[in-house]
Amino acid sequence: MSAKPKIAVFASGNGSNFEALAKACQTEELGAEIVLMVTDKPDAYVCNRAQEMAIPIATFQPKKFESSTAFERAVLKSLSEAKVEWIVLAGYMRLLGKTIIDAYPSKIVNIHPSLLPSFPGKDAVKQAIQHGVKVTGVTVHLVDEGMDTGPIIAQQAVEVVVGSIQQTTEAIHIVEHELYKKTLAEFIS
Ligand code: GAR
Repeated sequence: MSAKPKIAVFASGNGSNFEALAKACQTEELGAEIVLMVTDKPDAYVCNRAQEMAIPIATFQPKKFESSTAFERAVLKSLSEAKVEWIVLAGYMRLLGKTIIDAYPSKIVNIHPSLLPSFPGKDAVKQAIQHGVKVTGVTVHLVDEGMDTGPIIAQQAVEVVVGSIQQTTEAIHIVEHELYKKTLAEFIS
């Protein structure tokens, strides 16, 4: 019988962090089980990755519900059916509301590509480059109702590749894939 904590990863895009976490579960670097990948974007590449790794996908598009509360209740129902204990956001580009946050107190974690509280929200790497900072980074934090706010669990600095959003993003992704699995391995277990 497995006593591993059950995780749902929420993602909206490419899914490289999702895949890194799923592989870390396979190799047991992360002592947890991803039982569900929740997305708001049925065409996102993360869905291909989940399919290839045989991880169930749950798609919930807010516009298909009559209210944000109804949307979040539907998400919670599927989390409850899959016995999810932790929510891990990995490029989920939507704010979680009170309904979900209250159901998982101190059990929702996010990764963000900046040294928070600098550059929250979308396009964090572009924001950093436009501000001319020389060092940016990655933050893993607990989620509250704010935009990339909540208690910080881990941070790692990344040097900006001056003038290149793409190269800086690549450097950040390399750090994210390592930092997220290690931080979750310590934090969750
Ligand atoms: C990651 O860089 C993650 O930190 C960021 O989205 C990217 C998703 O990449 N999240 C945020 O900006 C949250 N505000 P991925 O789809 O390849 O994992």
